[in-house]
Amino acid sequence: SMVIMSLKVMALMVVALPVVSSCPVLCTCWEQVVDCSGKRLFSVPPDLPLDTTNLSLAHNSLTDIPPGYLACYVELQILDLRNNSLVDLPDGLLLTLKKLVFLDLSHNNLTRVTATMLQPAHSLIRVNLSNNPNLKQILPKAFQGFSQLEELDLSSSGLSFLSHKTLEGLPALASLQLGGNPWICGCTMEPLLKWLRNSIQRCMADSIEAECTSPPEVKGVSLFSLTEESFQACRFSLSLDDYLFIAFVGFVVSIASVATNFLLGVTANCCHRWSKASEDEEI
Ligand SMILES: *[C@@H]1O[C@H](CO)[C@@H](O)[C@H](O)[C@H]1NC(C)=O
Ligand SMILES: *[C@@H]1O[C@H](CO)[C@@H](O)[C@H](O)[C@H]1NC(C)=O
Ligand SMILES: *[C@@H]1O[C@H](CO)[C@@H](O)[C@H](O)[C@H]1NC(C)=O
Ligand SMILES: *[C@@H]1O[C@H](CO)[C@@H](O)[C@H](O)[C@H]1NC(C)=O
Repeated sequence: SMVIMSLKVMALMVVALPVVSSCPVLCTCWEQVVDCSGKRLFSVPPDLPLDTTNLSLAHNSLTDIPPGYLACYVELQILDLRNNSLVDLPDGLLLTLKKLVFLDLSHNNLTRVTATMLQPAHSLIRVNLSNNPNLKQILPKAFQGFSQLEELDLSSSGLSFLSHKTLEGLPALASLQLGGNPWICGCTMEPLLKWLRNSIQRCMADSIEAECTSPPEVKGVSLFSLTEESFQACRFSLSLDDYLFIAFVGFVVSIASVATNFLLGVTANCCHRWSKASEDEEI
């Protein structure tokens, strides 16, 4: 009877599936737009219309999204998750969204963008990650294959470093916001700044100026005013590995010289004795 019960429940679920794809209770739906913004949601609303192209969950209190949540909404083009409390997105959330062009994750609590978090949403044109104060790390492969990406907003977050490799593979990138981050303009930043100088001038038009917060010599200096000369010192400074290598070489050289001196000494001694011996023989 338990088996039959659960079979019945399963049958009900299968029959009910197409029916429940109507507008979620708290949301407004019209013409493939589903607007659930500002509804004090702590979890995502279930069962959206399957043909949804524009979904807003903005201005809620979402802390996480279940991994398979969006899997059925293959028509989705616009996903607005702005102003929630998201710390992370589950891997594969965007897996089936081949038409997604706009993703807004601004005003959340993201800590990092991993190599897989936004993959494989290669049709994205605009990504907004601004105002994530704890966003400290974006991995180099985070946007790999995003060949359509034109606009990337990374402003007002917690970034002190960004690898140029993160941006290198974005042929369509036309607008990049970097302002309001605690950039550390040390030697590790040189490749990024070099890349920016050669690739996009448009970032100059940042609404918030991108400035260095450290080291002290360049605090408050605009990221884009740093030139090749600013990094001249980098080419002469040595890392710990360099110091260790030099110390090692020094050690080897001194051992070698001690050994050489010893051999020379021994040889000289021998020669001396030998010549003395031969002198004695001669006598
Ligand atoms: C998507 O829907 C929102 C309402 O939720 C609307 O403000 C926005 O303009 C729509 N975006 C587009 C591109 O149609
Ligand atoms: C975020 O949403 C709350 C309502 O949930 C609203 O009061 C607040 O103004 C919004 N903040 C931003 C930056 O949009
Ligand atoms: C953001 O996340 C941190 C933990 O990573 C937590 O301590 C903090 O309260 C969160 N802030 C908001 C606004 O959700
Ligand atoms: C990103 O979001 C912020 C805050 O929600 C907004 O002010 C900014 O204009 C957005 N950037 C882009 C490029 O749309």
